[in-house]
Amino acid sequence: MPVWDWLVRATHWALVLCVSTAWISTLDGVGFGPHENAGLVAGALVAVRLAWGRFGSRYARLSQFVQGPRATAQYARQVWQQTEQRHIGHNPLGGWMALALWATVAALAVSGWLYTTDAFWGEAWLDQLHRLLGWLLLALIAGHLAGVALTSRRHRENLVRAMITGHKPPPGPHDVA
Ligand code: HEM
Ligand code: HEM
Repeated sequence: MPVWDWLVRATHWALVLCVSTAWISTLDGVGFGPHENAGLVAGALVAVRLAWGRFGSRYARLSQFVQGPRATAQYARQVWQQTEQRHIGHNPLGGWMALALWATVAALAVSGWLYTTDAFWGEAWLDQLHRLLGWLLLALIAGHLAGVALTSRRHRENLVRAMITGHKPPPGPHDVA
């Protein structure tokens, strides 16, 4: 069944490309050239995706997958006990991970841009903050990839393929559609 619409998939893979480019360009000997543009495009992609989170197709909407703390904690307990249900859209932990990733990319784009303005150029605290956010994003990405791998294994489905084709096997009787 169709789950991830074209904009969700396009913004996801473009975000992967831009964030990777922004990160790799900070490594020694690579060349800082594309850093600022890649980071700014990443920020713009997040803005487009968040707007789509209001108007997009069913599983693109934030209201479909953002759950309260109680439901999220309950889901986390079930994951621990290996009794969690399969979700057709993002599961509650995946939903919060998506929000954390978007917020961090947005904060990186704003802090990076501010650092290049006359008013903030050379501000040590802003430089520190920007670098800290860069490392935070890397940690979140590691958690994101672990979550995708774990969920794919638990429910014996290829979530990466679903993010490419947009399609998933339809829900069974015990799944959350
Ligand atoms: C720069 C690195 C990455 C970032 C910032 C990132 C960010 C995100 C975000 C924000 C979402 C939510 C998508 C939405 O609702 O629009 C998502 C979902 C997803 N991402 Fe990534 N991602 C990254 C790398 C990857 C990579 C390398 C893979 C595959 C190997 C991947 C696989 C997925 C999958 C399968 C989902 C859907 C999860 C689900 O079924 O709930 N991501 N990612
Ligand atoms: C996804 C977005 C971004 C990521 C992951 C990112 C990551 C980083 C990291 C890790 C550093 C530290 C490099 C080092 O330690 O040598 C850095 C430095 C820097 N970034 Fe970004 N950045 C992003 C977006 C941006 C944007 C949008 C701009 C400006 C428009 C920008 C401007 C800068 C500048 C000027 C530096 C050099 C500051 C310094 O090292 O003193 N960044 N960035």
